[in-house]
Amino acid sequence: MKARNLIDLDDFSMEELDEIVTLAGDIIKNPKNYAHACDGKILATVFYEPSTRTQMSFQTAMLRLGGSIIGIDNPAGSSITKGENLKDTIKIIGGYADIIVMRTALEGAAKAGSIYSKCPIINAGDGGHLHPTQTLTDVTTLSFELGRLDNITIGLCGDLKYGRTVHSLVKCMVKYKNNKFVFISTPELTIPDYIREILDEYGCEYSFVDNLNDAIPELDVLYMTRIQRERFETQEAYEKQKGIFVLDTEKLKNARSDLKILHPLPRVDEITDEVDYDPRAIYFKQAVYGMYARMALIMKMLENSEGYEPTRVYSNSELKCKNPKCVTVLEPYLPTLVIEKDGKHVCEYCDKTIG
Ligand code: CP
Repeated sequence: MKARNLIDLDDFSMEELDEIVTLAGDIIKNPKNYAHACDGKILATVFYEPSTRTQMSFQTAMLRLGGSIIGIDNPAGSSITKGENLKDTIKIIGGYADIIVMRTALEGAAKAGSIYSKCPIINAGDGGHLHPTQTLTDVTTLSFELGRLDNITIGLCGDLKYGRTVHSLVKCMVKYKNNKFVFISTPELTIPDYIREILDEYGCEYSFVDNLNDAIPELDVLYMTRIQRERFETQEAYEKQKGIFVLDTEKLKNARSDLKILHPLPRVDEITDEVDYDPRAIYFKQAVYGMYARMALIMKMLENSEGYEPTRVYSNSELKCKNPKCVTVLEPYLPTLVIEKDGKHVCEYCDKTIG
């Protein structure tokens, strides 16, 4: 694989994605064969938002491949608190590590980092925008547990507005044949417009429902998500949305016997504990697949990465993104990158329409 960043899963072709899933399967079967695959390499985790699974699965992935890890998991302990900007931080870390895994609350931050890094960057979650390695985890899980990535009726339930795992997963699953999507949420927390436009672009069948009971019988996969408290403007707005969709054993009585229940985790109250004992619940297995998928990803991304240099990027527009969560608002030196889509101007960092 040619050296490059993983900002959005679209950065990889379907064939490359398939190679990573296949490699993850081989690592699961023959872990010893890969114990020295990354000897001498260093992975930096740069996490400005909390994480258990993504950070630790990347760290264990690199350690299991024979590599080493460095990182920031608390911005208070880094020079960001002295006023250092994202550009300089990433330039420095890119000179120490061979690959950077980055999570921030700012939409488009990993893309911004990739403009300056001297080594490849992996987006480990940028605010409510995207989480491509969670999708890699989900696709690996479905591939091995369901046995296919096409012809799936997939229900996505909960916070579909701020849930970055949902956005990345839909963007990926639209590319496989005959997948149908059932979006189960309140109207306030439905999918962003740009995700709906992608569904239309691919000609996918999709529907919106506000009742989990109604949706459950037809599903092959149910992807539950947490209401993302940290992304709401006010606590009151969050309180109005929490606890509306709860998966329990009663609801599962109407589900298919071969349903697969996924959740990126962490869970709050949207799946009751007794569901964990149902064989259809595979979210804890999913987190383990995530580690193997990330081992495969690290290996592929480090192939041919010697001498990697970022491509110089220049502003292509005078327009400024107005999304207050976009990285360009807090890091105003960044080149403005705008694309035209269906007559609209779209910010390339956060995918929001400008103007
Ligand atoms: N799924 C996921 O991203 O979990 P963490 O926030 O714990 O990394």
